[in-house]
Amino acid sequence: MAKAHSDHESTRRDFLFIATGATGAVIAGSAVWPLIDQMNPDASVLALASIDVDVSGVEEGQQITVMWRGKPVFIRKRTADEIATARDVSIDLLPDGNARNANDPDAKADDADRSFGENGEWMVMVGVCTHLGCVPIGDGAGDFGGWYCPCHGSHYDTAGRIRKGPAPQNLPIPEIAFDGDVISILNEYKA
Ligand code: FES
Repeated sequence: MAKAHSDHESTRRDFLFIATGATGAVIAGSAVWPLIDQMNPDASVLALASIDVDVSGVEEGQQITVMWRGKPVFIRKRTADEIATARDVSIDLLPDGNARNANDPDAKADDADRSFGENGEWMVMVGVCTHLGCVPIGDGAGDFGGWYCPCHGSHYDTAGRIRKGPAPQNLPIPEIAFDGDVISILNEYKA
């Protein structure tokens, strides 16, 4: 798969951290239940539990990384080529046939069940290698044009599915809500 941009630009984009606003859900909840919220010992944790990310300025072929609960989350607006490549893969070839998608825990690892948006252009994944927890490199890295973890050589495809190397599972997809402009990252995937 051709890279649309230079390595320098890719590196810069890959490590672009976007400041995100506090979650509206938590603010609204505090207004409705102020006393309950004050008494809740986990209030500070809840305040960090979800984030809203405005992706209206993200262009096709661009990836941003946001920090959420101390972990990087990769948000990528895929190109038509990336989508087509991912959809052309037989699920039988995948080392991990589970979507690892908190929005649909029983789904298989078809591309359509791991992507979001009208044409499946959006990927939202926790960017932690499922082998031993390194942060993979993105922007078309690795043998399958997706993400590559250099720690021990795990290759993920353009849908974030493990294809080669020691990582046992696909990159996990958190529970999200998406209104077309804002992606709210709500909860982690739990196996
Ligand atoms: S931590 Fe990624 S391959 Fe080992």
